[in-house]
Amino acid sequence: MAKLKSRYVCQACGSEQHRWQGQCPDCAEWNTLVQEGAAATVFSAKHNLQGGGRAIELVGLNAAVALPDRLRSGIDEFDRAVGGGIVPGSALLLGGDPGIGKSTLLLQVAATLASEGRQVVYVSGEEAADQVRLRAIRLGLGGAPVRLAAATSVRDILTTIGSGEPPALLVIDSIQTMHSDLIEGAPGTVSQVRASAQELVRFAKERGTAVILVGHVTKDGTIAGPRVLEHMVDTVLGFEGERSHQYRILRAAKNRFGGTDEIGVFAMEGAGLKQVPNPSVLFLTQRGEAVSGTSVFPALEGTRPVLVEIQALVVRLASGATPRRAAVGWDSGRLAMILAVLEARCGLSFATAEVYLNVAGGYRLTDPAADLAVAAALVSALAERPVPQEAVIMGEIALSGEVRPVAHAALRLKESSKLGFERGWVPAGSEGPGGIALTRFARLGELVDQLLGR
Ligand code: TYD
Ligand code: MG
Repeated sequence: MAKLKSRYVCQACGSEQHRWQGQCPDCAEWNTLVQEGAAATVFSAKHNLQGGGRAIELVGLNAAVALPDRLRSGIDEFDRAVGGGIVPGSALLLGGDPGIGKSTLLLQVAATLASEGRQVVYVSGEEAADQVRLRAIRLGLGGAPVRLAAATSVRDILTTIGSGEPPALLVIDSIQTMHSDLIEGAPGTVSQVRASAQELVRFAKERGTAVILVGHVTKDGTIAGPRVLEHMVDTVLGFEGERSHQYRILRAAKNRFGGTDEIGVFAMEGAGLKQVPNPSVLFLTQRGEAVSGTSVFPALEGTRPVLVEIQALVVRLASGATPRRAAVGWDSGRLAMILAVLEARCGLSFATAEVYLNVAGGYRLTDPAADLAVAAALVSALAERPVPQEAVIMGEIALSGEVRPVAHAALRLKESSKLGFERGWVPAGSEGPGGIALTRFARLGELVDQLLGR
């Protein structure tokens, strides 16, 4: 017996409600509930699942695994981010802001793979085939034997590519434009996105075709549609960067076939995305005269050090207006914490000043090891005394004002030394590779004293 119910699905989090409400009770977004095709709830006559099924084969953990060779696109920065190449039959989701370069990246990957003799199908639901072709020509990839289509019906797509030898790679740009006729609803709704992705992922598993789905990102940074999309695929990739900056970072947020700590670095240029094989100095601005309010932090991306510049500006306010605090590329909660520790433990007052913090080059820092470099930039800006230009700074700051050790300090220092930095300001107990003079700090106050020459 099937019972029909109408349901309302939140377009932000995918939760289902039985009646319409202005605000989703699960994620608290407003006006996101949309009525979607009635779901059939099937009540089975059998009330348990024990018995009546087919026996499945149980194998040991040590049974032989046959993982087919990965598809290497030949674009090393891409292959690195996906864990050494695309696993055949796997499903990948590539998320990123509009205009960040997702279509460009995948067109380049598709073209290189096709040029190596792989069957590659690129389906665009957003652009006409001519538009994609023009872009390919502009990128100098017009000669690559990629098979191209502008389509949005998942049934049409799978019928077409399922009839012959299945391709090695299928690119779907984007999943939000796809439509499954198995259920009702307009493309882009949560249930359509889910149903379309389900069919495409099933095709991937059954036929051994690797499928890359492009997913749009909403303003809060999650891939539009339900989180369930991220559970359905094997690998979730994010393409990040500021649109106004040149640099783009490809990062895996989840990978069933590899680590999530390696990144691919690209620069968006006139002729598409160019690989940046040595990103360690990307985010340093041209270093000229020493200025107050900047410091250099040796960040780590996977196994690769990336030196980034942190810039702070402190503006004293005359009136009693509430001062602004703004951070770009750094968590504003963590900025507030560091300011509070500087006030409470080191006696510095930012109370009547506006504080701006910026990570240069559009880079986004999340590593707490950057705390000490952030603090140094802030103190330097406040006191108008430059941080020594030849120093890199690292250390995590505890609420007590203690400076905590950071992971892979030696690796970070080695790279810094290679790039001409002669001094390292590091947590107590850190060891360096030699060739770089270390100043060790156990407490934040010691760094402040050093900067203020006390
Ligand atoms: P696109 O790949 O269309 O982004 P997405 O698919 O993520 O929305 O890239 C869009 C931007 O990239 C566009 O604003 C122009 C820029 N771009 C270049 O700078 N150089 C190029 O060679 C190409 C193809 C795009
Ligand atoms: Mg696009």
